Amino acid sequence: MNTRVTELLGIRYPIIQGGMAWVAEQHLAAAVSEAGGLGLIGGASAPGEVIRDMLRDAKRLTDAPVGVNVMLMSPHADDVARVVIEEGVKVVTTGAGMPSKYMEDWKKAGIKVIPVVASVAQARIMERLGADAVVAEGTESGGHIGEATTMTLLPQVVDAVKIPVIGAGGIADGRGMMAAFMLGASGVQIGTRFVASTEAVVSEAYKNRIVKAKDIDSTVTGRTYGHPVRSLRNDMTREYTRLEAEGKSFEELEYLTLGSLRKAVQEGDVIRGTVMAGQIAGLIQDIKPCREIIEDMMRECHELARKAADFV
Ligand SMILES: Cc1cc2nc3c(=O)[nH]c(=O)nc-3n(C[C@H](O)[C@H](O)[C@H](O)COP(=O)(O)O)c2cc1C
Repeated sequence: MNTRVTELLGIRYPIIQGGMAWVAEQHLAAAVSEAGGLGLIGGASAPGEVIRDMLRDAKRLTDAPVGVNVMLMSPHADDVARVVIEEGVKVVTTGAGMPSKYMEDWKKAGIKVIPVVASVAQARIMERLGADAVVAEGTESGGHIGEATTMTLLPQVVDAVKIPVIGAGGIADGRGMMAAFMLGASGVQIGTRFVASTEAVVSEAYKNRIVKAKDIDSTVTGRTYGHPVRSLRNDMTREYTRLEAEGKSFEELEYLTLGSLRKAVQEGDVIRGTVMAGQIAGLIQDIKPCREIIEDMMRECHELARKAADFV
């Protein structure tokens, strides 16, 4: 399948694995890239040298390119921004801010820059800054979210910018992918489906929680202070919601969640930890290899395209 995104990134399939904190490490990223998509290492709040080590490990696992998600609010963002240049990374996605101050150096290094946006206004700003594409991420997504749904955000961003748009949020099979294409996307970014993959170095408890999740099992915490996060309902989200309703300070709420994603990802504590996942978790019924996830999606997509052609 050739789209503006496969051409821009030189990949076989227009599928990007989201740069997920604690989840998107070298094994997952390499598996996705090896299967023909684009795997990303999630920079999150990790120091530059940690990202350098992950990138070098990824190079040992695959010859295919692996990108990095740079979290711009991280105290280590400057370091990570330098490391991606030094390590010859070809694609960077950015989150939580404006990548303006890195743009010139990244462009000089030939890096394709793809900010994640949650509104038309953000998409326009990023295009003006020189972004090569944007990921339009709907509120269905796992992790930190905006307000607009994928269904409404995607076509509006597509109409507002000339650069390619990648749809994210609520996509886990060929139907979702095809829907994103119908709304004008040239690619998709997927998070939750790849968490429940064989290669993700994530506790079995976390993966199983996603497989067991029903359609309405996710909830959003942190709206009060403008930092909404979507995760699966458990003791942690219930406690957070209670404290939020009591009007506790941002600092107190932050303290509650300190290290809680790592606790769920690495220690398998899906009761007291934060199990970030999107609304589409309810559709995910199994844990399977990244190659199978990608090839199943592509097959479904082609079948749907054929059916649509018959219909017309
Ligand atoms: C566990 C988890 C952690 C995430 N962490 C980040 C992150 O650190 N940076 C980021 O840009 N997006 C992050 N995301 C969002 C994903 O990159 C992706 O855009 C999103 O999951 C897409 O929606 P989906 O989960 O419905 O597929 C995270 C998502 C999940 C599920």
